[in-house]
Parts: sequence; C-alpha cells; structure tokens
Amino acid sequence: MDTALDTRTESQQIVQDNLDYTLFSWSKQKGQNPLAIKYAEGVYLYDYDDNRVIDFSSGLMNVNIGHGNQRITEAVMKQMQEVAYVTPSCVTKARGELGKKLAEICPGDLNKAFFTLCGATSIENALKLARISTGRHKIITRYQSYHGASYGAASAGGDPRKLPMDSQQAPNFVHIDIPYGYRWEYGEENLLKECLQRFERTIAFEGPGNIAAILLEGASGSSGCFTYPKGFLKGIRKLCDQHGILLIMDEVMSGFGRTGKWFGFEHEDIVPDMICMAKGLTCGYLPFGCLMVTDRIASKFDDAMLPLGLTYSAHPVCCAAALETLKIYEDENLIENTRAMERYLNGRIEELKKQHPSIGDWRNQGLLGCLEIVKDRSTREAMAPFNAKPDEMVVMNKVAAKIRELGMYTFVRWNYVFIAPPLCVTKEQIDEGLAIISEALKIADANVLRG
Ligand SMILES: Cc1ncc(COP(=O)(O)O)c(C=O)c1O
Repeated sequence: MDTALDTRTESQQIVQDNLDYTLFSWSKQKGQNPLAIKYAEGVYLYDYDDNRVIDFSSGLMNVNIGHGNQRITEAVMKQMQEVAYVTPSCVTKARGELGKKLAEICPGDLNKAFFTLCGATSIENALKLARISTGRHKIITRYQSYHGASYGAASAGGDPRKLPMDSQQAPNFVHIDIPYGYRWEYGEENLLKECLQRFERTIAFEGPGNIAAILLEGASGSSGCFTYPKGFLKGIRKLCDQHGILLIMDEVMSGFGRTGKWFGFEHEDIVPDMICMAKGLTCGYLPFGCLMVTDRIASKFDDAMLPLGLTYSAHPVCCAAALETLKIYEDENLIENTRAMERYLNGRIEELKKQHPSIGDWRNQGLLGCLEIVKDRSTREAMAPFNAKPDEMVVMNKVAAKIRELGMYTFVRWNYVFIAPPLCVTKEQIDEGLAIISEALKIADANVLRG
C-alpha cells in the first residue's frame, strides 16, 4: 500500500493488521471489532486515541492486581538481565523462593510445585499425575465447568465450546450435572443432598476402583458463577477419602484472592490433593501456571521417574514475576480489599435489582460475580438460553454493545453479565462500572415479559 495515500488512523491500521494476519479465539473471524489497547493502568485500559475503558472482568479474570504495575516490570527486567532461561533441570533463586512461598500459602502438606505455562498445562499435568499415581483411569468432572482448551483439559470441562471437537475427545472423563440454587426448587438442604448423592451414585456406577480423581473448580467462573451449596466441598472431600479418589481443585480462575481468600476451596475447610493454578499467579504479566501437589503424591516419585516435563517449566522470568505478584497481593492488602469490595458490590446490586426487573439472580464470591438476566422473574425464563444460538442473542448482544459503547470491557455470555474487576478496585470505580451496566440493562428491561 502507498503510505502517502493511507489516511487511516494509527488505531485503524493496528486493527486492520490484526484482522488481516491474526486469528481470534472462540469467534467467527468475520465481523470482529476488537479494542486496540495502547496502555493500561489499575482498572483502566486506554486505546490509541486515549479513550478510557473500565475493565470489569480483569482481562480474562486474571489481572487481579490491576494493570500496569511497574513492580512486575522491574522484577522481570532484573531477572532477564541476570539470566532469562535455564533448563528445568537447573535451578534459580526465584524458582526456589516461589515454591517456598506457594507452600506457605497452600494449606496442609501441599508443598511441592510443578511449574507450568498456563491453566491448561496445569490441568493436563494434574490429570496425568492423578492417573499415574493412583493407577486408575477415570476422572469425574462437572458439565458446567471450564478447564482449558487443550485436548485433555477441554475434554475434562463441560463447556459447550468443546462440542466441535466432540468426536475427538480424550477418553475416561465422566461428567455430572450439579444443580444450582436459582434453578432448584426443593430447598437448600435438599440441594446439598442431591449434589452429593449424584456424585455417590456416579462413583458406584463407574466403579470406585476405576476413579483416579474428582476435578472441580474452586469456585465456578465463566460457566455462570454457580456457588456450591454450603458443605458441598466437605462432602466431596469425604467421598474422595472413602474411595481413595484424589481431589483436584482447579483454582486457575478462583485462586489468588479472586473469591476473597487465597483459594476458592478455602471457603470450606478442606485440603485438596492437588491445586491447579495460573491466571492470578502472574496476573497476565507473563503466561505461567503451577500444579501444587501434596508431599504424599510427590514422594511416590522419590525413587521413580516423574513423567512430567515442559521446556519452559519454572521459567526464571515467570518465577520472578510470580514472586513479585504474590508480594503485591500482601503489600496492597488485595485480599482484604476484595472482601470489603464484595460487601459493597453486593449492596449496590441489591439496589440495582429494585431498578431492573431483568435481573433474575446475582451470584458472587469475592469479586467473581455474574448477573443472570431473565425475561420473567416469576418463571425465571432466561433472556438467552444456555449455549444460545445467534438469533437467541439479539437482546443480550444489544446489552453487550451498549456496555462497550459506554466505555466498559466485560463479558456478556448468553444471559450472564460478568462483574469481576481487578482486586484493587475502589468503591468509586464500582459505582462507575455499575452506572454503565445499569444503563445497558434498560435494554433488557424493555424486553421483560413480566417484572
Ligand atoms: C477454571 C479454569 N481452568 C482452566 C483454565 C484454562 O486456563 P488457560 O486459558 O490459561 O489455559 C481457565 C481459563 O479460563 C479457567 O477459567
């Protein structure tokens, strides 16, 4: 192209290059209209024209400490100046210190870290290790859950995004549908009973001696923030112990303060056998993950080869970034702030419910929340169904477009509007974001059949 004749703005040029030469995840490739981000700070993203966008989903629910924290830049630079890469059979100060810090944060004897690259690689390695260390093959998981996009992780998850690869699924995953309060009519106590009985029955049907592990999210996220009934994780832990089944908690999204504790499972006093981590471990400053295992599991490989490996396992620069990230959580009291902002946000949503008949339900733990939008509060008919087709998304697409037009980045999926800002968010910023969502919900309200 003759650049003298190119009248496109810098921003348009950037978007066009991306559209022409890159692929976009989970989307049809035509008709994309991505935000072009030049820089970011705290809860805000800025485009090339200096327009400010409030990030109400912390990127992909990973930028827990907020954007643009230069402490990470400095830690990364320092590590890179010293040594950028060593093979996983060599060690660095950052790797050892990070392992030690994670052992301090994790409960019980979860003291050994295998460092990975992301959430999916943590899950893949957990699945492999569970099968090898128990000598069993089946993994029980939940339908409405997400564990990553690689083959094993996608097969483990129950997200409908895996359906196009249905015929090539990895074998030996057994899925269970766990009901949730808003769409359960028989009382909270019966909900807990039913959830646990579904697991008990499935374990019996599948043969307890065949089941290596139960894999669950520490708190449900992108599937709809379905809070577990109180006592559920304790019940699952008991079932696992009864049958020699390992409990793997996927804390990729719910970990690192997101739910107001270091890990989601800590809302119930349990200790899992493995924890999968990623996202909030480095908050997106670099891709990284970790599989944390108990001393008991690790010791099985004291005299046998541990058959796990990645060229970039324990990458020194990622370890340095993670170590600094963990310090930031503590120095900036981010977990305490999450709990305070959770109370504030929940109170504000109660007010919004009075104004917006389209809000059917609000489910939130810490700052991992979503509004469920309905056509009819009494029947709870969803504004868009599970795995909605494009023609069922007309209203929700308009809500999403309005949110974006008013300067917010967050997820709108089917009839859910997610609210998961960085954990450094303030009351004023919550108000600013909710004002945008409230304005956009007027579109949904206008489509309510009965308030
Ligand atoms: C609960 C959970 N597990 C695993 C993953 C996969 O993580 P990654 O995309 O880093 O592979 C995600 C990603 O959203 C997640 O939310």
